[in-house]
Amino acid sequence: MTTETLYPVPAEWAARAKIDSAGYTRRTELAATDPDMFWRDEAQRLDWIAPFTRVKNTSFNESDFGIKWFEDGTLNVSANCIDRHAARNPAAIAILWEGDDPAESRAISYGELLEEVCRFANVLKGQGIAKGDRVTIYLPMIPEAAVAMLACARIGAIHSVVFGGFSPDSLASRIEDCDSKLVITADEGCRGGKRVTLKGNVDAALRHVHCAGVTSVIVVRRTGGAIAMQPDRDIWYHDAIAEAAVDCPPEPMNAEDPLFILYTSGSTGKPKGVLHTSGGYLLWAAMTHDYIFDYRPGEVFWCAADIGWVTGHTYIVYGALANGATTLMFEGIPNYPDFSRFWDIVDKHQVNIFYAAPTALRALMREGDTPVTRTSRASLRLLGSVGEPINPDAWEWYHRVVGERRCPIVDTWWQTETGGAMISPLPGATALKPGSASTPLFGVLPEIVDADGVVLDGAASGNLVIADSWPGQMRTIWNDHARFFQTYFTTYPGKYFTGDGCRRDPDGYYWITGRVDDVINVSGHRMGTAEVESALVAHGKVAEAAVVGMPHDIKGQGIYAFVTLNAHEVGDAALRAELVRWVRTEIGPIATPDAIQFAPALPKTRSGKIMRRILRKIAEGDFSSFGDTSTLADPGVVDVLVAGRADAV
Ligand code: WTA
Repeated sequence: MTTETLYPVPAEWAARAKIDSAGYTRRTELAATDPDMFWRDEAQRLDWIAPFTRVKNTSFNESDFGIKWFEDGTLNVSANCIDRHAARNPAAIAILWEGDDPAESRAISYGELLEEVCRFANVLKGQGIAKGDRVTIYLPMIPEAAVAMLACARIGAIHSVVFGGFSPDSLASRIEDCDSKLVITADEGCRGGKRVTLKGNVDAALRHVHCAGVTSVIVVRRTGGAIAMQPDRDIWYHDAIAEAAVDCPPEPMNAEDPLFILYTSGSTGKPKGVLHTSGGYLLWAAMTHDYIFDYRPGEVFWCAADIGWVTGHTYIVYGALANGATTLMFEGIPNYPDFSRFWDIVDKHQVNIFYAAPTALRALMREGDTPVTRTSRASLRLLGSVGEPINPDAWEWYHRVVGERRCPIVDTWWQTETGGAMISPLPGATALKPGSASTPLFGVLPEIVDADGVVLDGAASGNLVIADSWPGQMRTIWNDHARFFQTYFTTYPGKYFTGDGCRRDPDGYYWITGRVDDVINVSGHRMGTAEVESALVAHGKVAEAAVVGMPHDIKGQGIYAFVTLNAHEVGDAALRAELVRWVRTEIGPIATPDAIQFAPALPKTRSGKIMRRILRKIAEGDFSSFGDTSTLADPGVVDVLVAGRADAV
């Protein structure tokens, strides 16, 4: 199994961290024995306009299902993230932006951020956006992305950030689902020295009849590349902001008023609009950022995620800014101009805390140590990992080469649904085991259950559930509260089901083993196999498709598609390439299949259900243990698929 080397808390960390191991025990006990007091105390880290009287009002049971925290308090998220820091120290740097081109960077102070957010909030108001309206943000990694999110939060509009790598179709379905009135985009993005079409994709998305509700598009000029502006709809960001007033009082929001929607893939159907609210989410973001990264004023915090994913929301923007941190935002990619880029940025901006996904680390590790060791990295004191299980090899490399054995690694397990980290070491309190996300944060009650929902004690393997609510929990699926309950609270009634498998070792450390549903984790990005399947069957030559994950050295998991063609179609290399292109266009490059196997038929039970278990084994190249195949309508299919695998990979 996994190595279980134990790295004790370094002495200087035990001495200086906000939470040492005694503190961890104390806070954990308080959260368990007097949650009301614990959360009242934690909630003081936010500025409330009207204080709350009631802390928690939650139930995971069908009869009285509902999740509310601090329900009678009011606050404004942007005021918490900007105004209170700008008032104290307007010159402190809020956002350090590093461009794709190493010659380009910007530093934006809290004072400047306040002015820009207020101006842009007024621009949004001028476009008729009011509290509760939805605004779609489809931007590259530029400061305007954070400005746009915070401007929405300031006036109570609900933002829905769509990752810039999604196709026009994916963008259109997300605009349509939440009925956005306005889209914020840029002419183009810059990544790895290449330009990425954005405004063109918005134009294409808005040609869908269902996006008729969008009345304006605000365009940031990033590259100056040629785009078509539609005069009755499209507005330049820089023009609008120059004319806008600098004063925009923050809208008082109820703690349970929505802050944002973020679409994420599930095991079935179209992506779900995960909804987070203002009070509980911000508290969770701020608290976890503070404890896990042990952030100190003046330090530079760098979360190398994209703002299009929850990690970017919670740790580049909300958690970091709520704590008055300097947050670094990087537009580019780890290997441009070369494989030292991350570490050059660390040196250039004197980054103290670095947080990234294992997939990036594995890709860098493959290039050897020199691109790392030729840089100094002396400013680094803490490293983090997120998004997928980190294999002990990559962990050791990160620790030894990047952090020179000096920096603890916080491996944070969480999900779009959880709002922020749930299981993670605290650097001053937790001895580290490479590959384990270690132990739950205060107030988080993980349990391991078997297939029947029986709670397993002590060392055990099974499915990971959370037994009670925490403030950062998602509140609903946009427009589909029934689906919210159905998806997360019916598999194990009375508990939140994470969709992850997990092992707990005798020391109480949690080891996430990956998804147990039909979601795969490609380079730390969640992808529903059903989405890729529906893209494939939308192709005229495809009759049927089944998609599973396959092990992938760099990506963690790759996408393996079994495709049955319509009669008389020929599955050759050209068609394979065409289908790969097709899926990229339908969903976006993150859904690029790694292997396509043309299959004359799929293994189905007599009732017509595809036996994915068998397909997963074939994709893995493990032909030894298919288990019981006697229920297959045609067991011979399996041999044909085994024989055909060689052509696919
Ligand atoms: C996986 C990303 C192991 C897990 C924040 C989860 C992890 C899914 C870890 C959520 C980790 C995330 N160790 N697995 N440290 N962090 N995962 O919604 O399978 O994009 O359910 O949120 O990523 O992905 P999401």
